[in-house]
Amino acid sequence: MLIFSGNSNLPLTKKIAESLGLEIGNLEITTFADNENRVRVKDRVVGEDCVVVQSTGVSPNLYYIELFLILDSLKRSGAKSITLVIPYLGYQRQDHIFRDGEAVSLEVIIKIIESLGVSKIISFDFHSIKIPELFQIPVTHLSAIPLFAGEIKKMNLDDAVLVSPDMGGIARAQKLSELCGNMPFISIVKNRDLNTGRIESATINGRVGKQAIIVDDVISTGETLVAAGDILAKNGCEKIFAMATHGIFAGKASEKLQNSNIEKVIVTDAINIPKNRVFEKLELISLAELIAKELRNK
Ligand code: R5P
Repeated sequence: MLIFSGNSNLPLTKKIAESLGLEIGNLEITTFADNENRVRVKDRVVGEDCVVVQSTGVSPNLYYIELFLILDSLKRSGAKSITLVIPYLGYQRQDHIFRDGEAVSLEVIIKIIESLGVSKIISFDFHSIKIPELFQIPVTHLSAIPLFAGEIKKMNLDDAVLVSPDMGGIARAQKLSELCGNMPFISIVKNRDLNTGRIESATINGRVGKQAIIVDDVISTGETLVAAGDILAKNGCEKIFAMATHGIFAGKASEKLQNSNIEKVIVTDAINIPKNRVFEKLELISLAELIAKELRNK
């Protein structure tokens, strides 16, 4: 097996490669003056099973183009198979038409990935459980929820509830609840303006404990978590934690979360978080071992 990395999440690829006892393969990725990318695989890949690790985050367009060119270079150079490890599949929240006239962006991304000869996809905690069905190729949908359950067990909480910050996340909170010995879970009803993306209102559905752990798939602007933290605090919650698989931290999200009612924000390394987005309340857990295990069993 050969493993290659785009530029989106080299630290995660390094950990995966280390766990598998592999060296990261040699790709030459350069950028022309006009910002077009140029990709060339320097290793011999003829007849080899190749793994490509690339995530997205705040620069989905850049990293998707890079990924498409990496896939094409491997296929043209004779790779036997390509497993794409894409811990965060960017554009996944645009998986259907919300307003008349919109593109179904995720479908476009999937069509391109499939047309480039990917044999299999490994990804984490999709926004919707229907996403694997949109692919024609096999998808291994892994989850960080068991890792979050491990973190919660270490926390020593005596009156805690799990919180889904919106109705769409209830199944996720339920799964975490089962892994935490049926810890109670509640949900927030959140209304977002479809034109501006701003949260207009949030109300709680259920009894709040002394401690709350908000669980979500992705943090982008941070507004969902901040709104959830505010309403939980208003309802008497004393300690509020948040856990999400994908930490994009777009715009001023890090600052907003640092100044919020939330005490600690735990995310995985599905998306690489550059130093300028790291904040004091942030804690990271790694997906590398779960990915390495999956690749070993492949
Ligand atoms: C929404 O349905 C998702 O599960 C997340 O709650 C949401 O996308 C987070 O976005 P933001 O951080 O911008 O509020």
